[in-house]
Amino acid sequence: METGLKNKHVLITGASGGIGIELARLFLSEGSRVTAAYHRSTTELKRIIHDWPKQAIMVGADIRNETEVKSLFEQANTAFGRVDVLVANAGIANPERAPINQMDLKQWENTLAVNLTGTFLSAKYFFQNLGRFRSECASLILVGSTAGLFGEAWFCDYSTSKAAMYGLLMSLKNEIVHLAPKGRVNLVNPGWTLTPMSEDTLKDSKKVKRILQTIPMRKTAVPADIANAILFLSSDVLSGHISGQAVTIAGGMEGRVLFAPEEIHLTGDSGDSDKA
Ligand SMILES: NC(=O)c1ccc[n+]([C@@H]2O[C@H](COP(=O)([O-])OP(=O)(O)OC[C@H]3O[C@@H](n4cnc5c(N)ncnc54)[C@H](OP(=O)(O)O)[C@@H]3O)[C@@H](O)[C@H]2O)c1
Repeated sequence: METGLKNKHVLITGASGGIGIELARLFLSEGSRVTAAYHRSTTELKRIIHDWPKQAIMVGADIRNETEVKSLFEQANTAFGRVDVLVANAGIANPERAPINQMDLKQWENTLAVNLTGTFLSAKYFFQNLGRFRSECASLILVGSTAGLFGEAWFCDYSTSKAAMYGLLMSLKNEIVHLAPKGRVNLVNPGWTLTPMSEDTLKDSKKVKRILQTIPMRKTAVPADIANAILFLSSDVLSGHISGQAVTIAGGMEGRVLFAPEEIHLTGDSGDSDKA
């Protein structure tokens, strides 16, 4: 299917993570030029640069730091010109359960700094780049979470940072058109997805059984489920009249228990189940 993404310049934050690596490969296979932003991990991205040396660059940046985000976009513009698509995908979730009455202020501030301020800074310099290189179309995809929709006890820092994506979505969809008249902003909210962020939980069969009690399809996602939806929302050919929308990719999850424990039958170690 023609996506129109050939030669489009896509900047992906969190490109070194589970969903980010999948995104980088998917856009590169569409013929896009990719600026893959990472924080600390480089191993997988080096392989990608080796495989697509003319189409991809990798740039290190801590998205909490404005100087580094500014430099990220400067390096991207120097390599491939205007950034047409930003996937604001970088994020963290503290793996430890922390009730609010015991949550360290530093943890709260750091989660908000990466997930919310980091997304703000990424969007800020993306929009500056749109002002500098005027063109008709542009696409920003924000990455939230089902935790931002339904809340998550013991993870209020994370769920709050992800709920805030909706405010950015509804504001920025109205701003982007002043810089790119056909510009679009959309939000994807992944549910449980097997990546380094969630693998400790998703490799624990007791936890997976509890999770699957809340998902009609009785399976968790793989990174391709999320990346394919993001690709669709990035493409002006496929989704050119879709803006301001939040797409939840979570097998129908709605934040409540739907199945009794005995109705869940695990078949694999990544949350796949019998569909009885
Ligand atoms: N996996 C899930 O179940 C799930 C569910 C809902 C939403 N999400 C969301 O999906 C997005 C991708 O998550 P994932 O599952 O792919 O997680 P992941 O594998 O842990 O990847 C996270 C990415 O964020 C980057 N990152 C972390 N701190 C950063 C910082 N200070 N500056 C710049 N980059 C930073 C990491 O970079 P380095 O590795 O280079 O340090 C990595 O590339 C996140 O926004 C996450 O909240 C995931």
